[in-house]
Amino acid sequence: MKILPKNAFAGAFTVPGDKSITHRAVLFNAAAEGEAYVTGALLGEDCLSTAACMRALGAKVTVEGAAVHVIGAQEFCSAACDCGNSGTTMRLLTGLLAGRKVQATLTGDPSLSARPMERVARPLRRLGARVATTAGHAPLTVSPAALYGCTVQTEVASAQVKSAVILAALGAEGETVVEEPQLSRDHTERMLAAMGADIRAEGTRVTVRRSVLHAADVRVPADISSAAYFLALGALKGEVLCKNVGVNPTRTGLLRVFDAMGVRYALENAHTECGEPVADIRVYRSALRPLRLGAELVPSLIDELPVIAVLCAFAEGESVISGAEELKVKESDRIASTAGMLNALGGDCTPTADGFVIRGRRTLVGGTVRSQKDHRIAMSGAVALSASETGGEIEDAECVNISFPGFYGMLEKGE
Ligand code: S3P
Repeated sequence: MKILPKNAFAGAFTVPGDKSITHRAVLFNAAAEGEAYVTGALLGEDCLSTAACMRALGAKVTVEGAAVHVIGAQEFCSAACDCGNSGTTMRLLTGLLAGRKVQATLTGDPSLSARPMERVARPLRRLGARVATTAGHAPLTVSPAALYGCTVQTEVASAQVKSAVILAALGAEGETVVEEPQLSRDHTERMLAAMGADIRAEGTRVTVRRSVLHAADVRVPADISSAAYFLALGALKGEVLCKNVGVNPTRTGLLRVFDAMGVRYALENAHTECGEPVADIRVYRSALRPLRLGAELVPSLIDELPVIAVLCAFAEGESVISGAEELKVKESDRIASTAGMLNALGGDCTPTADGFVIRGRRTLVGGTVRSQKDHRIAMSGAVALSASETGGEIEDAECVNISFPGFYGMLEKGE
């Protein structure tokens, strides 16, 4: 995919639906009593993997125009579930299936099969689940088990791990408490409460009791992680408006980065939809200051770090991002792949054990981006190339379909 440099970039964009919320809306409704419509759903490959798995387990999931219609299964059947590239599918599904009377095998593509799965299997076993990993990785097998509530402290601030335990706890006897070291995204807690679950969240602690879920329609806001690419280009090259974006406070670390780097922006039309805060975000071209970012903010912007690193390359001076070792276990090792991307385009980025040091020079030359088949590296690379002097190309560019079908077409529309 060739990306031409742009002198200016402006426009109003509605990026696709939130990936985390779409996964949850399909997965939870597939396990609920009744039927529901999920509108504004992301129809990217990851969420289609969730839909296919829920179908294999016996739920009815159909794409009807721009909506997904889900009819819940009262009981799941034993099945082989292909989770594709999607960590959210594999980890949440493992929790959902843990206390049921089914035998399921969960597989994934080579990237997903390299990612750590004991982080979810271990806490689930504490509830009595029978989950076997393959030397800590996929394939996973989940076997029938009776679950008992207990207190679980998660090792990392991971919404995928937290959600897996919460979903298992819905079928466990007694009370389960999940505590995480820092608050991760809380879409699961909000949606399950709206579906009638007995769940209480207080800070980093969630208490759950056995519950039956009732289907609920969900309107999915646009994904701030996808909006981030266009907002970044607005900050670098013009004025950009991203409409109807989910601004759940557990996801808006990017706005704190904008504050710290001197990016001028405004939130407009703020309101709440289906229990999630939503707003339009407008960003203006700004002179960027370097960034110091530590562990406190990382869970609220984990998926945005590659494009934040691009912004740092366009700031004047040295930026230091630390406390982000979780990047190593994403769809690629994003510490290595982000540094590789910036350096291939003429940037100056040193990878560290838990982040990067980026010496920003207000410009990048251009060149070839090796996406490593990681959607967020491809899209961050496209932002970097659009703002660069010569532009260039992206290898394995089609991986953007994981989270953002139509990305390159939307990028072309900015002027
Ligand atoms: C997600 C949680 C995050 C994020 C991923 C989606 C979710 O992962 O990186 O893209 O939907 O729960 P972790 O929970 O492992 O940090």
